Amino acid sequence: MMNQEETVPCVDMKVKELENQINLNDEKLTSIMHKMLNEMKKGLGKSTNDQAKVKMIPSYVASLPDGTEKGSFLALDLGGTNFRVLLVEIMDRNEHNNKPNIRMDSQIYRMPKDVITGEGEKLFDHIASCMADFLKRLSLLDKKLPVGFTFSFPCKQHGLDHADLITWTKGFSADGVVGQDVVTMLREAIDRRGEFDCNIIAVVNDTVGTMMSCAHEFPDCQVGLIVGTGSNACYMEKLSNIELLEDSTGDMCINMEWGAFGDDGILNEFRNEFDVHVDENSLNRGKQLYEKMISGMYMGEIVRLALCKLAKDGVIFNGITNGPLFKPGSFETSYVSQIESVVSSGMTAVQNILANLELGALRSDCEVVIRVCQAVSRRAAHLCAAGIAAIAHKIKQNQPENDDLKITVGVDGTVYKKHPTFSKIMAEKVEHLCQGTGVKVEFALSYDGSGKGAALITAVAHRMAQLANA
Ligand code: GLC
Repeated sequence: MMNQEETVPCVDMKVKELENQINLNDEKLTSIMHKMLNEMKKGLGKSTNDQAKVKMIPSYVASLPDGTEKGSFLALDLGGTNFRVLLVEIMDRNEHNNKPNIRMDSQIYRMPKDVITGEGEKLFDHIASCMADFLKRLSLLDKKLPVGFTFSFPCKQHGLDHADLITWTKGFSADGVVGQDVVTMLREAIDRRGEFDCNIIAVVNDTVGTMMSCAHEFPDCQVGLIVGTGSNACYMEKLSNIELLEDSTGDMCINMEWGAFGDDGILNEFRNEFDVHVDENSLNRGKQLYEKMISGMYMGEIVRLALCKLAKDGVIFNGITNGPLFKPGSFETSYVSQIESVVSSGMTAVQNILANLELGALRSDCEVVIRVCQAVSRRAAHLCAAGIAAIAHKIKQNQPENDDLKITVGVDGTVYKKHPTFSKIMAEKVEHLCQGTGVKVEFALSYDGSGKGAALITAVAHRMAQLANA
């Protein structure tokens, strides 16, 4: 048996080795940023879009709110673990400080696994039944409300209210929806039900809603970012650069669908054995490889795999080789945030979290677990930073004359909101990667982008349609 003095340096060496395997240094991050910038240009080009993995999808959202939009709207939010229905009332701005004045009520409905992985029609029937329940509770069944539908999956849009699903992501796999217009599917489900009527005006990605809701408060917000179950970003691009569309004046918001970055192997040199394992055991193998290195659906699993390796190597947990830790999915991403949050209050708090997995952890085990969580979440923040820095470079290239460019990024998502250091690490790295460009990037937490943002987009479209019909 080794004595303590021999064991500790060996443990430290093994953990350092693992940290190095996970960590991406500045040189690598700079290279990833340039690759992302290239992919963005490829996605925007007419002749190159076909081969691009980052699809750069026009969202048909061109005008930001001007503050005059008003009314009651229904917003639907599908894309994470739950489905939400919201009633959003946009009122006159506060006359003293000109701040937006929005009232919301909402309800969360669970999306059972058999619904998100079953029959497509059933999925939309479930959504329609949740809408009916919500409208009934608020005595609004007989009102024909304008609806904004936040549908957070990659869709090819043909207009604000037409979106064909390209592929499912994030654990959804309902049959018969890929290639279909999700607005038509929802309308049909509502008709089948025959209990209420509504006017579906806009279908938006959560990134776009997030940007919009932030722009309502900070007019220089032109980027939306989600780091939650999935990860993705959108930004305002010049129409003249969007070669897939005919128009050439003005701007349009592009839903990048950056989660698919790397699906052509371009990031393989930066992926480690845990990334490969996560992908090989996922529902959508070979897809969303960048997202799988960043987002909440996978972060806990990467940590779990790294811990299993250390346990098997005898570095932690007395060398165990079975138990709940060895069960896929058992290390929830929320544990990563919790563990990193409680570090300052001592090891007992960490031990309590690990007890959920029946792990009797010594102080030395806890120290290693913390380091692994930090390495994995830090890498995710750095990868996101490389993506955001690429967007900042792109916006700067679009406005070379602007020497004083300030970009605000509206952000939402559980990882960003719940993790104690993710936001700070990401912001610092973005600043570093943008050095010398003259661009200043700021982040603003976007409150309820998928609800408020969708309602605002609906309100703008509604206002325009009424103007056109007047
Ligand atoms: C996935 C979806 C994308 C969404 C993101 C965040 O990447 O494909 O549409 O924006 O998750 O929810």
